[in-house]
Amino acid sequence: MNLEEFIKKSPKAELHLHIEGTLEPELMFSLAKRNNVEISFKNIEDVKKAYNFSNLESFLKIYYEGAKVLIEEQDFFDLTWAYALKCKEENIVHTEIFFDPQTHTDRGISFDIVINGIYKALQKAQKEFNLSSKIIMCFLRHLDEDSGFKVLEQALVHKDKIFGVGLDSSEKGNPPNKFKRLFKKALENNFVTVAHAGEEGPPKYMWEALNLLKVKRIDHGVQCLKDAKLVEELSKNQIPLTVCPLSNIKLRVFNKLKDHNLKTMLDKKLMVMINSDDPAYFGGYLNKNFIEIQAALNLSKEDIKTLLVNSFKSSFLNEKKKIEWISKFN
Ligand code: HPA
Ligand code: ZN
Repeated sequence: MNLEEFIKKSPKAELHLHIEGTLEPELMFSLAKRNNVEISFKNIEDVKKAYNFSNLESFLKIYYEGAKVLIEEQDFFDLTWAYALKCKEENIVHTEIFFDPQTHTDRGISFDIVINGIYKALQKAQKEFNLSSKIIMCFLRHLDEDSGFKVLEQALVHKDKIFGVGLDSSEKGNPPNKFKRLFKKALENNFVTVAHAGEEGPPKYMWEALNLLKVKRIDHGVQCLKDAKLVEELSKNQIPLTVCPLSNIKLRVFNKLKDHNLKTMLDKKLMVMINSDDPAYFGGYLNKNFIEIQAALNLSKEDIKTLLVNSFKSSFLNEKKKIEWISKFN
């Protein structure tokens, strides 16, 4: 079996996936029509042309524009169901997905509509093809902490459906430190915490995520190599870093895949794995991320196996389930 086949056939866990980032242009247009929402794109070609980003900020503008077509519970269900079918197609057997409630509640959509649509689709996927999943609610870091407290309040009502909280949106200028009281309250309410850090922002933000937000994983974290002490800390504690190769190229964190530091991170024994982030916007789902980074960095079969095993090790599955999946690679 060649490496590409091996990647496609292996069971995988995905740990960094924004459900709003799986909105394909085709679904965007059909939902715009169904809901009578005006969007600033004329047609699907026009949308695809707009997906030429210069950094995180330029992407977020279009990403929030696209999300405006999501109005009814059925829309959130359809969005999530389409991603669940991708998981089935790609042999993703476990997924931990982010959603951004403030993107929707700030447009007058109720928190319940959002969470129920997502949750029902994931339940159906569990029942029909045994896809396991967790839902992580992200706070938008460009907004203030008070806005975060309001959504946390609403999340408490849905504690049975929401496993953890995270932090996303514009990183630079919005350090984890800004949200330390909010994350403290989330931890007191038994939410697991994660945060985007070290995507574009400095190692300092990764330290803050660890020390102030008490995160179990860091999303992206590719800037860590600038700080040897941080690398030592991450390696010693095997803190997972959810790396997203195609995202990093699309948002120009690295110029090209050959320049990506994933192989260096693997060689430093960091707990890294591959994820797709916002696949509808960044040109590929999980398998494409794997296949393209393997080719660009000439990763070995052992490297690929490590990345696959790390995806399960780093997940929030229980120990028994982790062992079951990992044993398939021995
Ligand atoms: N970084 C920050 N915010 C985001 C991302 C990301 O990669 N994707 C969706 N929101
Ligand atoms: Zn992300």
